Amino acid sequence: MNKQPKRYLITSALPYANGYKHIGHLAGAYIPADIYVRYLRAQKRDVVYICGSDEHGTAIPIQATKEGTTPQAIIDKYHEIIKQNFADLSISFDIYDRTSNPIHHETTQEFFTYLNDRGELEVKETEQYYDEEAQTFLADRYIKGTCPNCGFESAYGDQCERCGKALSPDELINPVSTLSGKPPVKRRTKHWYLPLNKHEAWLRNWILNEHQNDWKTNVLGQCKSWIDGGLQPRAVTRDLDWGVKVPLPDAKGKVLYVWFDAPIGYISATKQWALNNGKDWEPYWKDKDTKLVHFVGKDNIVFHCIIFPVMLHLHGYIVPDNIPANEFMNLEGDKMSTSRNWKLDMQDYIDDFIKKENGGPQLADALRYYLTTILPETKDSEFTWKGFQDAVNGELVAIFGNFINRTFVLMHKLTHGKVPKFHNDIADDKDKAMIEEIKKAKTTVETFLEEYKFRDALFAVIDLARSGNKYMQEKEPWIKAKQVDANGKVTEEAQALIDNCLHVCLQLSANLAILINPFLPNTAKKMLHMMKVVEKMLDWENAGSLKLLSVGYSLRAPELLFRKIEDAEVQYQVDKLKKGLEASANGKQQTAVEETASNFEELKSEIVYDDFAKLDLRIGTITAAEKVEKADKLLKLQVDLGFETRTIVSGIAQHFSPESLVNKQVIVVVNLAPRKMRGIESQGMILTAEQPDGKLILVNPDAATFNGSTVR
Ligand code: MF3
Ligand code: ZN
Repeated sequence: MNKQPKRYLITSALPYANGYKHIGHLAGAYIPADIYVRYLRAQKRDVVYICGSDEHGTAIPIQATKEGTTPQAIIDKYHEIIKQNFADLSISFDIYDRTSNPIHHETTQEFFTYLNDRGELEVKETEQYYDEEAQTFLADRYIKGTCPNCGFESAYGDQCERCGKALSPDELINPVSTLSGKPPVKRRTKHWYLPLNKHEAWLRNWILNEHQNDWKTNVLGQCKSWIDGGLQPRAVTRDLDWGVKVPLPDAKGKVLYVWFDAPIGYISATKQWALNNGKDWEPYWKDKDTKLVHFVGKDNIVFHCIIFPVMLHLHGYIVPDNIPANEFMNLEGDKMSTSRNWKLDMQDYIDDFIKKENGGPQLADALRYYLTTILPETKDSEFTWKGFQDAVNGELVAIFGNFINRTFVLMHKLTHGKVPKFHNDIADDKDKAMIEEIKKAKTTVETFLEEYKFRDALFAVIDLARSGNKYMQEKEPWIKAKQVDANGKVTEEAQALIDNCLHVCLQLSANLAILINPFLPNTAKKMLHMMKVVEKMLDWENAGSLKLLSVGYSLRAPELLFRKIEDAEVQYQVDKLKKGLEASANGKQQTAVEETASNFEELKSEIVYDDFAKLDLRIGTITAAEKVEKADKLLKLQVDLGFETRTIVSGIAQHFSPESLVNKQVIVVVNLAPRKMRGIESQGMILTAEQPDGKLILVNPDAATFNGSTVR
């Protein structure tokens, strides 16, 4: 879409209402969308920003079982919590709806019926896993087994949480039902499918041709590999009793697949928003002159780029113009994870910073700031508490806040608390250069924002503040103020120079308020108050102007825009994170001990000798071992195999000190496909066994032998 569209429809992924959401979620799909929307609003464009709770899928009943309550209680609880969390972080949805809304059920059923009536869906009978004890078909998430890709033993039927590979239950090795703990059986059942394969040509053209230049490469890459991998029909129904009922008489006990209903939630939420505001929802989804942009994390790309667009296309709705998906954000050297309790929930940040004395909205902006500077736009990124402190203290406080503060203090001291005149006749090169830079900043920031480069856009704003500091430092109005006449009055020439400097700095302050507003809305608001101007000044078209504050207008005293983050706060958060990890690890170890005390790990199903013969096991000697930086579980080993020395990364750092491993002989799986961990290629795996307390020990030969010796 080149020319300016008539209206914008912006969405952020609907979070599952099954628990607290962490800052990785926040950075992936909400912060960038909110910046973009605030920018569009400041441009006076017609824009609607949609979000809400995703309340279906097995994630909800699973959490209900965990918390010993009902699915309804779960969604009611977390819908409110998450909605409030977003509000506390100034995410400015036009509506935060929920998929339990009856409008959503109707809209989804209508969508299904529309496709089904036109023959766009296929019905197939297949065999699916069934739990005879629980007397129910098993949704993907209710089946666990060994991942065929990485060997992780607790992979789910839809995805392996260790290696991230998308799976189907049939691919799992040794599947068991999580309801009864028993291996499931196969039963025949009927389901409706969306034949994606029929739409390959359309998808290819739309994505790889029309959008080859404006979609992000990480997004295009995923799409291409899906399409090239061969698109398959996708089941859009499930045997489950939690979700939107399939609106057909012969589909008792079936609901629509959560990934069929959830994105339709964007449409139903638009309808609810229109209803609340006396608007018409239809042009937002039907008029080609609407620009639809989905903000999502990378695990949602395929649903928003392939499956939902096919559905929209078949229904005659518009398709997204862009899906600027982000990669993942890690935390203090490790992947964020809810199950391992390695995360920072929005709620925790709000409790520890925003709600505390000395907190408030400026601390919401502090988090927004840091997250924006480390957005995983092109690759995974890393949140550290030290990084947070450095960004806030070193940039927000020391550059942006400092510039505004100095400007206001000096204005009160040297120009009577009023906006001074600009004396054109004595303007020098420095004044002119600063003025040029102010004029140019608008286009720079704008161009980055239009290209979804939010980090660069924010850096451009900070750079402008940095230039302001430099300009003031060079102009030294406080030195000029020492040039006094016999009566102790600042000379006319000196005063004119002071006036010029502060005039430019004040207009620059007003410009900074406009430019920072999409990123740090609470800061912009505070600046408006200090400048005694109305919100209208923040209209984007005002950026670049040097007439934002009128000469002679008196302004308020400076207020502190940001406060520093103390070392003790950083230490407290780092400790808390580590404690949380220990608590969850202890919890797990305890259950592991309990389980093994009563029964051994379940036996795997029978294999033939050929299955075993595929494994190439050798004796090797560990010649070096070291910790992997920023990963407290991993050790990097050098293993001498006789015929070569290999690098092996092993998740055993919590069980062995590196020194204790050197010169030990071990058994190595040498024909495992290499795998990258923390950027290091691991070329094999060493064998370990578990002791009763969960500690790992090495498995070694009972006498020394030559490296490279085959184990069989
Ligand atoms: N609930 C999903 C998740 O957290 C996202 C749903 S996005 C929507 O991964 F498009 F389906 F709404
Ligand atoms: Zn795996």
